[in-house]
Amino acid sequence: MISVNKMANVRMKWIVCCTFLLSILVTSSSAQTDYNVGIGIADITGPAAEVNMMGYANPAQTSRGIHLRQFSRAFIFEDNNKNRVVFINIDACMFSAGVKLEVNYGGKYTERNVCISGTHTHSGPAGFHQYLLFDITSMGFSIDRAESKIRPANLYKYDTDKEMTVLRIVDAEGKPFGMISWFAVHCTSMNNTNRLISSDNKGLAELMFEAEMNGEHVLPGKGDFVAAFAQANEGDVSPNTQGPHCLDTGLRCDFNKSTCNGRELFDSAFTKLTGPVDFRHTYTNMTDQTLPDGKRTCKGAMGYSFAAGTTDGPGAFNFAQSTTSPSPVWNFVSHLLKNPSKAQIECHHPKPILLDTGEMDFPYAWEPAVVDTQILRIGQMFLIAVPAEFTTMSGRRTRDAVVESLKSAGLQVEPIPIIAGLSNDYADYVTTFEEYQEQRYEGGSTIYGPHTLEAYINVFRNLSKALVSGSPVAPGPNPPDLVSKQVSFLPPVILDRAPLGKSYAQGDRVEVKFVGANPRNNLRVDYMVNSTAWETVYTDAHWQTQFHWESAAFFESVVTIYWDIPSYQKPGMYRVSYFCDHKELGGGIQSAQGTSSTFKVTNSQEKMAMLNKKWEKKKTILERINKALKGKESKSAQLTNLVKPK
Ligand SMILES: *[C@@H]1O[C@H](CO)[C@@H](O)[C@H](O)[C@H]1NC(C)=O
Ligand SMILES: *[C@@H]1O[C@H](CO)[C@@H](O)[C@H](O)[C@H]1NC(C)=O
Ligand SMILES: *[C@@H]1O[C@H](CO)[C@@H](O)[C@H](O)[C@H]1NC(C)=O
Ligand SMILES: *[C@@H]1O[C@H](CO)[C@@H](O)[C@H](O)[C@H]1NC(C)=O
Ligand SMILES: *[C@@H]1O[C@H](CO)[C@@H](O)[C@H](O)[C@H]1NC(C)=O
Repeated sequence: MISVNKMANVRMKWIVCCTFLLSILVTSSSAQTDYNVGIGIADITGPAAEVNMMGYANPAQTSRGIHLRQFSRAFIFEDNNKNRVVFINIDACMFSAGVKLEVNYGGKYTERNVCISGTHTHSGPAGFHQYLLFDITSMGFSIDRAESKIRPANLYKYDTDKEMTVLRIVDAEGKPFGMISWFAVHCTSMNNTNRLISSDNKGLAELMFEAEMNGEHVLPGKGDFVAAFAQANEGDVSPNTQGPHCLDTGLRCDFNKSTCNGRELFDSAFTKLTGPVDFRHTYTNMTDQTLPDGKRTCKGAMGYSFAAGTTDGPGAFNFAQSTTSPSPVWNFVSHLLKNPSKAQIECHHPKPILLDTGEMDFPYAWEPAVVDTQILRIGQMFLIAVPAEFTTMSGRRTRDAVVESLKSAGLQVEPIPIIAGLSNDYADYVTTFEEYQEQRYEGGSTIYGPHTLEAYINVFRNLSKALVSGSPVAPGPNPPDLVSKQVSFLPPVILDRAPLGKSYAQGDRVEVKFVGANPRNNLRVDYMVNSTAWETVYTDAHWQTQFHWESAAFFESVVTIYWDIPSYQKPGMYRVSYFCDHKELGGGIQSAQGTSSTFKVTNSQEKMAMLNKKWEKKKTILERINKALKGKESKSAQLTNLVKPK
């Protein structure tokens, strides 16, 4: 075992590098471009061991390793009058308003002009509140990096009638350096038994798109070109139908090239964006909204069909979707927590209340009452940042209402409305009034009652009008500061043994085991350039690697690393390295490293030839044995004849 501070050094360097870049801010504006754009990416992978994953609410689904790392991708847009907005796409299930307030924006940005949108992967560690410190600092880095890279740019958008919108960002010379695609689909291709951290379908699309633009040799998160596959109104859209298909052609997606449509959109026809960068943001108390016709929203509550789950991830209990009549047993259980008031029951009708979250405040508020509502404007593009999972129809109605409001307020250009889903906060689902009557999972999880959507639309109408008229909007009520009450660290790791390197074999799947560490881990696959130099060709952010963590006896962890060697892998000598920070008995953190012995990767033809050779050898041996056996058989037959009783 070699114990070096390599990991710490790497991290340190990275931080220094970021700070350095920050001081060489470029904000020159060019006559041929309409905007300045800065794009940054940073790793936000959460704790890879023993933390419950967010999304399916399956207590058994705790993290046990890494398949794809999680990234934060920040895009700063600035117009010629220096007005700025920031769109941050994070490979995370969702986001919380409390944490948003904690992000360090370097004074330039506030929660008003920054939109943080989750991709909704269900395979990321939960607990932004508790594990806050990991994520906040890294998210700040992605903004710093974006700041450091601001340059003149033009923006082009393309969308299809199936509502996939692609924003293509090119520099003054027309060279692309960024892309955001908004498309509504649940990030649940990994099911609720998966224990490896994964950015799921959108994360993989991001990595593949970036690899294609930056070149395969550029490691994930290190390239100049940044691609975000952001979330939209995915409330009722599952990815698990019949495998991935292209929307335009109806054909299966090409797995190697992925993003059939995204790539096509990125390359094909476009609208150039021009016009101001602007934003309107207000906090809205969703529990006390009154519509023009006098209808009201309710204090938060979950229906029975919430606990039944969906087709993608059935709930843990014995509930059925479309439940509109409460069952006595679960009534009893949930009412132990809190009996809903008569007013609550009437307000939420026809939803039978399972969890009266809006009337529970122990140990702290269960659901937000005050949520972020925000619209970012970039030229003709209007990003409607919704703090929830809107269904397809809810998204359509919201977009239509925003367009109508913008036009009636006097907007001269044709607006492009986009739903930026799961942005800034998480307030469950939003269905239409009609969908709510059905009380399927989404309806059961529409927490502010049957008129939730209309209440949101009302707010977005106001924000739209204010954007066109140039008037300010009221800041709204302050959200409660839950974060200060909730910050806590991961439970301490008592003692982990430092890893001992152990060699493994070559083949299609390389498997290397280390005695590992908790909480920090990192892996690399290195290619031997020559007798003294190695080049890292894979990290744990790659699809081809998997990092599995298991706790073992005596406070040890066992770490298993898999590398699925692609068919196109350059033949040569390779090794797998594992880096970790482990906790000493005294409590100090030590960095450590383990490296497998070097192994050979041959091309498949060579391997076939080798297998053939082996087979030939085996065949010869078998033939010999057969011959020998035949000889023996005839001998034993003679013997048998001899001893046979007459
Ligand atoms: C979940 O995914 C794993 C891996 O693809 C698969 O083996 C398993 O059968 C799936 N489970 C369910 C319940 O679909
Ligand atoms: C992906 O690429 C590999 C290597 O080029 C090729 O053998 C394979 O057929 C491709 N797969 C698909 C689905 O196109
Ligand atoms: C939100 O509205 C509810 C219902 O009117 C009220 O009880 C609560 O105090 C409000 N919360 C905030 C933070 O304004
Ligand atoms: C919309 O704006 C009007 C006028 O400023 C205000 O009275 C109303 O409360 C706002 N409604 C919402 C839902 O924000
Ligand atoms: C090995 O490769 C490295 C990196 O390409 C190079 O700098 C070095 O000179 C090479 N050493 C030898 C002995 O060829």
